[in-house]
Amino acid sequence: MKIAVINGPNLNLLGVREPEIYGRESFEDYLNGLKARFPEIELTYYQSNIEGEMVDYIQKTGFEVDGIVLNPASYTHTSVAIGDAVAAVPAPVVEVHISNVHAREEFRKLSHVSAQVSGTITGLGLKGYELAILYLQSLKK
Ligand code: DQA
Repeated sequence: MKIAVINGPNLNLLGVREPEIYGRESFEDYLNGLKARFPEIELTYYQSNIEGEMVDYIQKTGFEVDGIVLNPASYTHTSVAIGDAVAAVPAPVVEVHISNVHAREEFRKLSHVSAQVSGTITGLGLKGYELAILYLQSLKK
């Protein structure tokens, strides 16, 4: 089974960026743990700070993998293009947010992605990525 994990802008700074909100672990470290936890899954990881690059990647990988775990970060709240890219591909997508976007600023309550995905996990920290993978894995069994 192939699953793509896709992170949006500023998530390359995880671990040093606002650690009181996003924690102190880098995504690379967390990803190593994920790969060890799911040795049977081919996990690919992509991060970009650029909206069009994310659209290109979703268009490409969305026809190749069995599922996508997507944290569009701030583009969640602004990008119709990323929402449209998600709608355009056959792979099921789970939207993940590390923080609870509903408990923060008003503008974070709007997602251009949520209506296009299978479901959303928000506020469970990095554990949300693991839970999303478990869900996508259950679709294959
Ligand atoms: C985020 C929440 C977004 O509102 C924010 O812009 C991010 C990260 C999260 O994972 O909690 O960059 O998607």
